[in-house]
Amino acid sequence: MNTSNRVNQLKKSAIHEMTRLSKQYDDVAFLSWAKPTTGTPKHINDAVINAIKNGLTGGYSQSEGLTELREEIVKKLKRDNNIDANISQIIVTVGAIEGLAASVLATIDPGDEVILPTPTYSTHITQVKLASGIPVLVPLIEDENFALDIEAIKKAITPKTKAIMFCTPSNPTGTVFPESTLRDLGKIVLKHNLTVITDEAYEYFTFDDSKHFSMASIPELSKNVISNYTFTKTYAMTGWRIGYLHADEEIITQIKKAHIPLSICAPVASQYAAIEALKGSQDCIKEFSLHYLKARNLMCERLDMLDSVFEYNKPEGSYLMFPKILGEQGNDSIAFSKNLLKEARVSTTPGIAFGPTGENHIRLSFCVPEEMINKAFDRMEKYFK
Ligand SMILES: Cc1ncc(COP(=O)(O)O)c(C=O)c1O
Repeated sequence: MNTSNRVNQLKKSAIHEMTRLSKQYDDVAFLSWAKPTTGTPKHINDAVINAIKNGLTGGYSQSEGLTELREEIVKKLKRDNNIDANISQIIVTVGAIEGLAASVLATIDPGDEVILPTPTYSTHITQVKLASGIPVLVPLIEDENFALDIEAIKKAITPKTKAIMFCTPSNPTGTVFPESTLRDLGKIVLKHNLTVITDEAYEYFTFDDSKHFSMASIPELSKNVISNYTFTKTYAMTGWRIGYLHADEEIITQIKKAHIPLSICAPVASQYAAIEALKGSQDCIKEFSLHYLKARNLMCERLDMLDSVFEYNKPEGSYLMFPKILGEQGNDSIAFSKNLLKEARVSTTPGIAFGPTGENHIRLSFCVPEEMINKAFDRMEKYFK
């Protein structure tokens, strides 16, 4: 078989495997979805219908995206991320995923090392491998609600280290890295001249006193940070495949060389959706946040009743959490998840899908209706009794 070692080395995704298995059963209670279950707000859909009727969506746009959209993104970055940007520092991408892939391809050469604090979103690890880079997995500190381990990161740096890549708020742990920690990380980044590739997909979903902080808002790091964003989570636009990235102009010129062969440009109809998302009412963000906060609280309450099975950190952001499975049954998280699906009809994601440090855990999503959480936990309580 004539396939590349780059691809051959990649393992089948445990997430997709669980989705496939879940389809074999009726009436499954899903805690494995990491995508908004509500539809895209109507005003966004309507704006796109108008753009289609007006014949605006049939061609390519500039590869970096429509000017009007980039102008709106610049305003948003200033307002919500405290980033002073201009439109030539933006590329509109096919979701955050394509932006992240282009960022990695533009940053690393084969054999370069990329530090990934884990457990983390497994696609980041895959993207580094696809670029023939070497993922260096540095465990988060679970006892401190999966905090970044700055000392361990320092120790992991070698002459081959090119970049550090992470998501905050985090998939799968729900951690929000605080400003002070990210400023400390910034000092290390400058000292070793590394690139930081951020994935800020869940930027609006933080709870209690946690606040999202964008490293690109630190002026000294302007040449070191590539920040990736998406409309997927914020506006329930999973299927539109639209996101964007921000970096210094010189870096953007290089990233564009990777972006064009990956996509030419982001889907133009989706770019019109994104313009309306940014210009129109922002009420959906408040509604989604409130729902996730209530759902998080409910999930934590229900987990408290299963304290002989799970131990957990309360998520500070995203709509995901990463409880630890107590005892020997956690040693094989795939078997644990499969069993839960087969015996209790509850679909979860095995922790090993998020790197080796994810073993002994499952990922639960509270981006589901509250009834789904109750149904899943009623079943688990019965099963574990
Ligand atoms: C951390 C993180 N980044 C990126 C994505 C995907 O984003 P997009 O749909 O914009 O490609 C996801 C989706 O689950 C995610 O959890």
